[in-house]
Amino acid sequence: MMNKKKSLQIGLIGLGRMGRTHLRHLISQVKGVNVAAVADLVCRKEDFNNEFGEIPFFNDAQKILENPRIDVVVITTPTSTHKPLVEKAIHYRKHIFCEKPLDLSLEVTEELLNKAASAGVKLMLGFNRRFDPDFMQAQQSVAAGKIGRIQIIKITNRDPTIPSIEFIKTSGGMFMDFSIHDLDMARFIMNKKIVEIYAKGLVFMDKSVEEAGDIDTALITLTFEDGSYAVIDNSRKAVYGYDQRLEIFGDEGMILVDNNLYHQNILYDKNGIHKALPLNNFMARFERSYLKEMQLFTEAIQSGLPLPVSHEDIMAATTLAYAAQKSLQSGMPVKL
Ligand SMILES: NC(=O)c1ccc[n+]([C@@H]2O[C@H](COP(=O)([O-])OP(=O)(O)OC[C@H]3O[C@@H](n4cnc5c(N)ncnc54)[C@H](O)[C@@H]3O)[C@@H](O)[C@H]2O)c1
Repeated sequence: MMNKKKSLQIGLIGLGRMGRTHLRHLISQVKGVNVAAVADLVCRKEDFNNEFGEIPFFNDAQKILENPRIDVVVITTPTSTHKPLVEKAIHYRKHIFCEKPLDLSLEVTEELLNKAASAGVKLMLGFNRRFDPDFMQAQQSVAAGKIGRIQIIKITNRDPTIPSIEFIKTSGGMFMDFSIHDLDMARFIMNKKIVEIYAKGLVFMDKSVEEAGDIDTALITLTFEDGSYAVIDNSRKAVYGYDQRLEIFGDEGMILVDNNLYHQNILYDKNGIHKALPLNNFMARFERSYLKEMQLFTEAIQSGLPLPVSHEDIMAATTLAYAAQKSLQSGMPVKL
């Protein structure tokens, strides 16, 4: 386990889209850490060292897991590999940051969390939306009572383009892969118990999504214990970019988080008023949230303070995603 006086030794496993994002932050912007090694199944060592310098690199994740100098593993491999990697990390007593979802099964998710807790291993999941400065500010305003009692929260999360069918087939489906972020955000901002979920969804755009057993459009309604609502609308394709908006309506006001645009200039001419499009992908839109998430995770490990995403948060969002699927299949609301 870690020595508090030295910097935290990190091993990162999986150098794809998320792995690269976290690695860049860990190398240059997260304080008090050292990237001790990186592993990726397919990346070539020469290519890795050319891009990231002389950090030890392996194709086999076991080299990281069994290294006694490493305190923390960051797991950014595809979801289907999380379980075996997390189990091994627990076995070797490494603290864990894992990308979402932890696993597609509710039972396995609970089992992994319990195993980590009994081994004294800290485990956090990448619910990065919580760490976006705009969303964090909205959450703080709600918590401070600035807009009174909240009646409705509306979350819009639409991808710019449909992901590859290969990805869709292994992603766990729209609710577990995509809406899980919004389900976590609804809990994070409202900080109230959810008593019911009602999910509707269909394939609107691409029949191959249906053939892969998924949907591309969804609407989820959550009812909270005091009767207030969350409405989440999801789409796998928005032609104008990555659409990420939030509206919170209370009896003393409203908070609106609009899209982050490529630039803030607004051009007025005889045809109308013209603005830039929203940032076009999750890496650009949520860049600051991924950095903040990793800063707060590593600080919590170093200080021994609670992680900013708890086991309860992980179980709750996973349970909601699972219940959304049940609701879609039955056509009925699901009581929680
Ligand atoms: N938080 C977010 O906003 C967000 C966004 C996208 C993806 N994700 C999650 O991040 C995870 C990774 O997604 P991605 O899009 O970065 O995937 P990706 O396919 O881009 O990259 C995965 C990488 O892992 C490597 N890999 C696979 N198995 C391995 C193993 N056993 N050992 C070492 N390396 C291995 C692959 O070679 C690949 O380079 C998924 O769980 C996904 O759900 C989260």
